[in-house]
Amino acid sequence: MIEISNVSKTYEEGNRALRNVNITIEDGEFVFIMGPNGSGKTTIFKLLLKEVEATSGRIVVNDMNLGKMPRRYVPKYRRRLGVVFQDFRLLKDRNVYENVAFAQRVVGASTRRIKEAVPEMLQMVGLSAKYKMYPKQLSGGEQQRVAIARALINRPEVLLADEPTGNLDNRNAMEIMKLLEDINEMGTTVIVITHSREIVEMMGKRVIRMERGCVVSDEIEGAQAVYDRQAVYDELSAYDEQVIYDEPETDEESEDGGGQTEDSRQETEDGQMTEDGDTYEN
Ligand SMILES: Nc1ncnc2c1ncn2[C@@H]1O[C@H](COP(=O)(O)OP(=O)(O)O)[C@@H](O)[C@H]1O
Ligand SMILES: [Mg+2]
Repeated sequence: MIEISNVSKTYEEGNRALRNVNITIEDGEFVFIMGPNGSGKTTIFKLLLKEVEATSGRIVVNDMNLGKMPRRYVPKYRRRLGVVFQDFRLLKDRNVYENVAFAQRVVGASTRRIKEAVPEMLQMVGLSAKYKMYPKQLSGGEQQRVAIARALINRPEVLLADEPTGNLDNRNAMEIMKLLEDINEMGTTVIVITHSREIVEMMGKRVIRMERGCVVSDEIEGAQAVYDRQAVYDELSAYDEQVIYDEPETDEESEDGGGQTEDSRQETEDGQMTEDGDTYEN
């Protein structure tokens, strides 16, 4: 659960980005945050990612009070969130497979685990056939799907997407929304910033509207779905053919060292999480 309670944020320059914001998001929800430029949407994301600190108020994410989180815990905390941006932010000199695998390498996953998880994730986002391509060889919609696969590969509890369809045409935007909905149905909490009324109306999800730093409305089924969503989806019919994976062209074998099995590493991580969590909870 995410609880933002009485949160205000004033940047150093004196910009009041958020004014007494209260938002509660339950596990497994799909929520849009909507509002004009400058209304404070991205600031909410940055607060959740602990990239900026609230000036006042309290933010609790899955029982962790962000205001009391020790600095050393922040990187581990961020790994529990998947993040997607408007401009994709892919590594230009790496192919699709490597862009997704990279997120696993940095958390020390074993090669065996990566070889299993990356194809699985690429299939989910419909990009199995393009795993060897480089970002510039892909459409915007495809690049965003790579970014989503990368955001999800470490199985975060929450996916945060800041204007994920801002650079896409309608068709690609709808495909991305369908993918985000699928991801949500598999259990991940999904929070999407957008200023597209069309998208919000099509999806018929909870919508939190921001204006000048304030939440001005919070509607459970924000806009009723006014389009026949299934018909739009059927038309899109994202089709992904099965492919056989060649061995990725990397020297990853050499990185899989240390003698520690992935399972024991996992236990250690979880154990630390609990211990650390106890020290600053609430
Ligand atoms: N790093 C910053 N320093 C100073 N002011 C900022 C900073 N980031 C955002 N702001 C200001 O805070 C307000 C909200 O910005 P932001 O959260 O990015 O809004 P949105 O994402 O809704 O466009 C704006 O007035 C913006 O200019
Ligand atoms: Mg923004």
